[in-house]
Amino acid sequence: MWKPLNLTPAEPYRIKVVEPVRLLPRDERLRRIREAHYNVFYLRSRDIYIDLLTDSGTSAMSASQMAALMMGDESYAGAESFYHLLESVREVMGFPYVLPTHQGRGAENVAFRTLLKKGDIVPGNGHFDTTRAHIVDKGGVPLDLPIPEALDPEVMHPFKGNIDLKGLENLLSSREGDRVPLVLMTITNNTYGGHPVSMDNIRRASEIAREYGKLFLMDVARFAENAWLIKERDPAYRDVSIREIVREMMSYADAVLFSAKKDALVNIGGFIALRDKELYERMARFLILHEGFPTYGGLAGRDLEAMAVGLREVLDETYLSWRIGQVRYLWSRLVENGIPVVKPYGGHAVYIDALKFLPHIPQSMFPADTLAAELYVEAGVRGVGLGSLAFAEVDRETGKVRYPKTEYMRLAIPRRVYTNLHMDWVAEGLRRLMERRDEVRGLRLVYPSMDTPLRHFIARLKPVEG
Ligand code: F0G
Repeated sequence: MWKPLNLTPAEPYRIKVVEPVRLLPRDERLRRIREAHYNVFYLRSRDIYIDLLTDSGTSAMSASQMAALMMGDESYAGAESFYHLLESVREVMGFPYVLPTHQGRGAENVAFRTLLKKGDIVPGNGHFDTTRAHIVDKGGVPLDLPIPEALDPEVMHPFKGNIDLKGLENLLSSREGDRVPLVLMTITNNTYGGHPVSMDNIRRASEIAREYGKLFLMDVARFAENAWLIKERDPAYRDVSIREIVREMMSYADAVLFSAKKDALVNIGGFIALRDKELYERMARFLILHEGFPTYGGLAGRDLEAMAVGLREVLDETYLSWRIGQVRYLWSRLVENGIPVVKPYGGHAVYIDALKFLPHIPQSMFPADTLAAELYVEAGVRGVGLGSLAFAEVDRETGKVRYPKTEYMRLAIPRRVYTNLHMDWVAEGLRRLMERRDEVRGLRLVYPSMDTPLRHFIARLKPVEG
């Protein structure tokens, strides 16, 4: 049985450039969160001490990536930088065709515009919010089929990111199966806790998709972290290199969608990588319309260069062992402090169960977002609520609100940016907040209405009185 390790290696880098951050006094933080309508998306980054809003686009680039920026070929068509990226994708992932996009959601838009028609169902292990929104935008129906363990924060399952294979097979063999053009597997599974997907689960899901004649796509935003967690948790892969694990994972997919802002260690970028020439050509037409010419896809040549380097760098096992070690470090400190975290740790973030942290606040008062606002006041740390404010659904006919099964606050850790002393500060802030949690009040939504899609980004909230 796999058990979490307890060894945290030191940073496998030294710091060449620094960016000052400051901790505002508490009364200032209170003022800033009030001005931000208790929504951390409205905070200015200069007012934040440690920013764990997202691991996306927030990585520190390496000296090699910075050097590569200078090699950017800014030609509109046929830029050398595109060919550098193509070589890198072929080497790391093994796909012959690549369409660059400005970021992950650009890839989603182009792929789903090409592949979906109204009424299509898209099953997966857990669609990310932009993925879901792009499927809906094309008239499709996103369907999450996580394994039941994924919904229980207490269960110590090594691969909680897995798809429910039985559920997938039942869907594809039913009458509804005709409405499914593709299966989309997201690795790691950001929506249900950043947990990895096992190799067996990827392989079986792809076999099932193939059996029923469906395309098998993967969203590989955090592919290297998934590969590391396979190595860590599946004894069959203990002695297999990350490069080989990545190549095997990719070998099961017809095409992948990629937000390079995560595991390509860059601040912007993405791509679609494919095996099939005909599909590549169909997508390229939409790419020109929405993103740009197929050799730049909405990016500068310098961005393509940084991506090409980052894709190879992220495979470094010393880096990955430290990276996951830092996530595990924060997770372990929180467990020690009695904070209700989602178990076990995943690849890019620590998720806190807001329903357990603030048991006196009902989901109608947004406990996850309340926790995020309070953590900012307590410690100058920014996390993000992933609960009822983001995911509750309003029934069109009855007007009744359906609350999500999970109510988490996510602390996503940017890559190569913070040290473990920063992590200690976060853990201490949560410990202090836990001590005074009884005095924390929930929030109510002032703007916009509960049925507005992606409302959490723009929501204005107020503390509940009394
Ligand atoms: N897929 C996954 C699994 C993601 O986590 C994200 C973004 C996207 C696609 C979209 O990519 O932002 O480059 O357009 N996740 C970020 C987050 C925003 O904070 O989890 P993008």
